[in-house]
Amino acid sequence: MLELTCKYNGVCVLSYCVRLMTEEDIPRVSKLDRELFPGVKMPTNFQNELKNCLARYIVACNDKLPDFNNEDSIVGYAGVWIMVGEVHIVNIAVTNDCRRRGIGELLLIALIELALSMCCNMITLEVRVSNVTAQKLYEKYGFTVRGIRQGYYTDSREDGIIMTVDDINGRAFKEEFKKLKSDYRKKRGAAEIILTAPLSQFDYFL
Ligand SMILES: CC(C)(COP(=O)(O)OP(=O)(O)OC[C@H]1O[C@@H](n2cnc3c(N)ncnc32)[C@H](O)[C@@H]1OP(=O)(O)O)[C@@H](O)C(=O)NCCC(=O)NCCS
Repeated sequence: MLELTCKYNGVCVLSYCVRLMTEEDIPRVSKLDRELFPGVKMPTNFQNELKNCLARYIVACNDKLPDFNNEDSIVGYAGVWIMVGEVHIVNIAVTNDCRRRGIGELLLIALIELALSMCCNMITLEVRVSNVTAQKLYEKYGFTVRGIRQGYYTDSREDGIIMTVDDINGRAFKEEFKKLKSDYRKKRGAAEIILTAPLSQFDYFL
């Protein structure tokens, strides 16, 4: 699925790249996780998560080209658990100083691509009732509210909204997803998504 190389005046321009998280990324991503989710009593154990065959974690980097050795370039990350045809987004976050530049959206696009590549048909998540910013991002990609988990967040007992998008292999979603990616490319420029290492048919330029 090699798609959408974006060229300006014949030159390929890359703004960001998304790639799978590696062990070398763990110190930087753990630091970000503690900073960005300060109320969480049990921070994500990325060591365990990278060994978990049902989990996939990705990072967004501000390099023009993927650099697996420059952890400082990481400006966001996201993770999913994959269970019987369903993808559960467990986290998605962008550093405070890099927000509103399309990085969260790029991470979400990559997670949807991951779900499609693994033949999953549904993506779901929980989001705080107060987190309207994240809800807007998910709504943009077709997630709708399916229920409330009362007191889901242990730090504040805040309720969690369950948001889900299903039938992602259906024609309607795929057409809308294609359009959203095209709009993204026009608005934000090109980015590279590398979902496997080494490069495979699922890697592409957006
Ligand atoms: C949610 C989060 C990942 C969004 O990342 P981001 O890089 O700032 O978002 P983007 O620039 O890619 O925005 C994509 C879309 O999200 C929505 N969005 C993002 N920021 C928004 C804001 N401040 N107000 C309203 N909508 C917003 C919009 O729909 C936007 O699309 P648009 O550019 O067409 O308006 C980021 O705010 C974050 O890390 N928050 C803290 C961690 C968190 O809450 N994670 C979610 C857990 S469920």
